[in-house]
Amino acid sequence: MKYPVSVFAIGLLAGLPFAASADNLAAAYSEDGRYFTDDDIPTYNITDDGTVDWLTFSGFRRYHAECHVCHGPDGEGSTYAPALKNSAVDMDYYDFVDAVTNGIKNVSASEQSVMPSFGENPNVMCYLDDIYVYLKAHGSGAIPRGRPPKKEAKSDVIREDEDACMG
Ligand code: HEC
Repeated sequence: MKYPVSVFAIGLLAGLPFAASADNLAAAYSEDGRYFTDDDIPTYNITDDGTVDWLTFSGFRRYHAECHVCHGPDGEGSTYAPALKNSAVDMDYYDFVDAVTNGIKNVSASEQSVMPSFGENPNVMCYLDDIYVYLKAHGSGAIPRGRPPKKEAKSDVIREDEDACMG
């Protein structure tokens, strides 16, 4: 796992004190309908009655439009591509973003798997955090498979950001 190591290294280099827990999941604060961890990484928020935050709901839809053909329904993986529900929990957020933006070419001779780059695709790039947050919610066990039945309203800021991104 790269995440705790890199955070640790940065903390050491900067000489900063940091919390012992490198919790990549728990929402520490929210801003305009988006939720973040202590480290300002996007994350999900599920209330006791199963209402999901907007990004989790939106990410479910976007994932199934753009990624599930290779990575399988609900991020469960396929014979061709890895289970992203686990990747979203285990991978460093910035590595996840990099994989989607720039793609991955597996150069090993025995394998022919290619993760395409989506950097030029607004239907993915404008919803990358949504997809990541949704996968993390499912991968951590916070939501089951399938379409989340109840969702928070989309905030004005999320709507404005989306309009600006989609152009
Ligand atoms: C054309 C098939 C295909 C599509 C569509 C696709 N992927 Fe992939 N993806 C792959 C393959 C194959 C790999 C494994 C690459 C490797 O490591 O060799 C991969 C790897 C990844 C990884 C790295 C996972 C890990 O644990 O190392 C991430 C993250 C990822 N994909 C995200 C996405 C997202 C998000 C989408 C939708 C926007 C998407 N992929 C759509 C084929 C695809």
